[in-house]
Amino acid sequence: MISFLNPARLINREILLRPLEEQDCVAMSDIHATGFDPAWGTEDMMGLLRQNNVFGYLALETGPLTRNRPVGFVLLRHAADEAEILTIAVTAQTRGRGVGRKLMAESLRKLYADRISRLILEVDENNQSALHLYRQLGFEQVGVRKGYYTHAEKRKGVSGGTALVMACNVR
Ligand SMILES: CC(C)(COP(=O)(O)OP(=O)(O)OC[C@H]1O[C@@H](n2cnc3c(N)ncnc32)[C@H](O)[C@@H]1OP(=O)(O)O)[C@@H](O)C(=O)NCCC(=O)NCCS
Repeated sequence: MISFLNPARLINREILLRPLEEQDCVAMSDIHATGFDPAWGTEDMMGLLRQNNVFGYLALETGPLTRNRPVGFVLLRHAADEAEILTIAVTAQTRGRGVGRKLMAESLRKLYADRISRLILEVDENNQSALHLYRQLGFEQVGVRKGYYTHAEKRKGVSGGTALVMACNVR
C-alpha cells in the first residue's frame, strides 16, 4: 500500500509546541475566534506579542494531511515574579485531546526556569473544561470577579457572568 494511503499513518497525528512568533498572529486570532466572542484580532495579538514581557506557545498538529496546522495557543504576561495567562484556546475540533494540558505544562516549565513564583488566571465559572484542566494542574480559587465577561471577551455560547480568579504556585 502507498504509505500516504495507509490509514494508520493518517491517524498518527502528533502535537508539537513552539514559542509564538509575530507571524502567528493570524492563526492565533482564528483559533481565538473558535472559543471567544468577540475574538481578539490580528492587531490585538500583534500588539501583545510585541510587548517584551509577553510570550506564549503555538500548538501545531503534524501529520501527512495536516502538515503543521495550528490548533491551539497560550499567551502569558509576566511582571516581577508573577505571571498571568492572558488567553488560551484550542480549535473546537481538537479539544479534549490533551493540547490545552500540553500548552499549560510547557508554560509552567518556562515560568519555573525563569524563577517566576506564581501564575494567575481568570476563568468563567461555568467553563467546566478549563476549570478541570486548571484544578488538575494545581490551581486554586483566590478571588471572584462578577460581571467580568460583560466587559471583556466572553466564551462563545455563554451569556457572560462571573469569573473565578485562580492561582498556582510555580515554585
Ligand atoms: C479550555 C481549553 C483550552 C482546554 O483545551 P483542551 O485541549 O480541550 O484540554 P485537554 O484536552 O488538555 O483536557 C484537559 C482536561 O480537561 C478535561 N476536559 C476537556 N474537555 C472537558 C469538558 N468538556 N468537560 C470536562 N472536562 C473536560 C479533559 O478530560 C482533561 O482532563 P483528563 O486528562 O483528566 O481527561 C479548550 O477547551 C478551549 O479552547 N476552550 C475554549 C476557550 C476557553 O474556554 N479558554 C479558557 C479560558 S480561561
